[in-house]
Amino acid sequence: MRSQREPQQHQQPSVLLLPLPLQGPINCFLKLAHLLSLSSDHLNITFLNAAFVHQRLPDLPSRFPRVKFSLFSDGISGDDPRPPAKFASMVSFYEAEVIRSLPEFLKSPAPATCLIADGVFTAVGERAMELGIPVVYFSTLSPCCIWASCFFVPKLFDSGEVPFKKGKDLNEPISDIPGVEGTALRWCDLPGICRTQDITNPYIQLVLEECRKLPKAQGHILNTFDDLEGTLLDKLRSLCPNLYTIGPVHLHSRTRQPESEQRVTSNSLWQEDRSCITWLDAQPSESVIFVSFGSVVPLTMDQLIEFWYGLVNSGTRFLWVRRPDSLVGIEDSEDSSLQVPTELLKGTRDRGFIVKWVPQEEVLAHGAVGGFLTHSGWNSTLESIVEGVPMLCWPNGIDQLVISRFVGDVWKIGIDMKDICDRVVIEVMVRDLMEGRRNEFSQRANRLSKSAAQAVREGGSSWLALHRLIEDIKFMRFEVPNDT
Ligand code: UDX
Repeated sequence: MRSQREPQQHQQPSVLLLPLPLQGPINCFLKLAHLLSLSSDHLNITFLNAAFVHQRLPDLPSRFPRVKFSLFSDGISGDDPRPPAKFASMVSFYEAEVIRSLPEFLKSPAPATCLIADGVFTAVGERAMELGIPVVYFSTLSPCCIWASCFFVPKLFDSGEVPFKKGKDLNEPISDIPGVEGTALRWCDLPGICRTQDITNPYIQLVLEECRKLPKAQGHILNTFDDLEGTLLDKLRSLCPNLYTIGPVHLHSRTRQPESEQRVTSNSLWQEDRSCITWLDAQPSESVIFVSFGSVVPLTMDQLIEFWYGLVNSGTRFLWVRRPDSLVGIEDSEDSSLQVPTELLKGTRDRGFIVKWVPQEEVLAHGAVGGFLTHSGWNSTLESIVEGVPMLCWPNGIDQLVISRFVGDVWKIGIDMKDICDRVVIEVMVRDLMEGRRNEFSQRANRLSKSAAQAVREGGSSWLALHRLIEDIKFMRFEVPNDT
């Protein structure tokens, strides 16, 4: 079947990029924009950006001279990064704005011939397909979570298995779902939405909608590489046959830059504090555990104190990112206002360094960093894999619960500390990561790091997948069925 809107002769390919306006997806889509803009002078690229993100990254037009930016409101005032509690309402407002504008993008001189949208925007995707614009979803979450979400999460909701009954043992392996060879997921490893007690919550409905509608697109871009998730990708192809595994996109984008320009460029929505690099320069090789819980995970004061004691008591050097907005219910998160026990302040002065936001890719690549205590966000995980840094995982929700299981049990490049926030356990596990099991984790992490580098090199699996994506966009090979 052909698209409702046949490409006109000599029409130039024009792609619309629509990221979710959060730190992780914005990073991924900007890397993709970079990769596409290197590909051909004959490809028009329009980046549909949230106005607040654009305000925070004012150098985007000069860094991406070939990309046109088109701005939308997300209905929230100010340019602070958006709090997770407003996520569902922000997405629906933003979607409505973009849907209203879609017909404009079909007008000359460069009518859109393809939409690449974050997988959360299935309503925009559906409308685009109705207008005859082929859709490729770029789901920037981890493929292991997308696999779990597409294959069995909706069924668990339909059968009433979720929400979990009171007293259910979440550590039990799930027997009747296809797992990755040799690894059973446990109930506690399922995507974050399975932990809800309220299935009417708009966020839960949004994610379930996404799981059901994702396969309808003409293609799917994934931020992964074949060697990392081969078996699982084969399973995913049975639902979404046209997969483009082009990741890790940050490494891919860096590798394609001319050597003289191969530095990390920042897409940070927060101000980066580079004093951490000077501090790292003064630390011995692989002696520091880097601690960061990404851009959205909140911490309670109790959790903060448990982590702090665990880190200080482990005797390990640590570099800790503490976003000013990450403490639940606390406005002023300066140490002087938090009434922190003096032994923690002393331990930090002796062996630690705390900052609000760092250039993370650069930190993970620094020779002084030997481990990463992370919330297992997909970008952080890939950045750690690329640098061969073993991980101690403390997942919070979304895809992180699945990812940490894969880190601990499939790739075996770290420890899954899921659902535990206790100073003694943290102390022991930090020592295990940095000393006891360091060699076994490092060897595997280094192997994966090499295979990531191979994947993005000329002729590698991600390189070839990107080439195919660009050819498909340029020669407008996508077809929208008439019945969408
Ligand atoms: C969200 C979800 O929480 C996560 O589960 C999902 O996989 C992606 O979307 P986030 O929590 O922000 O992402 O985590 P992550 O995916 O790890 O992305 C954080 C990004 O911020 C990374 O690219 C990281 O390099 C960057 N970062 C983080 C910095 O640049 N500096 C910092 O100090 C901390």
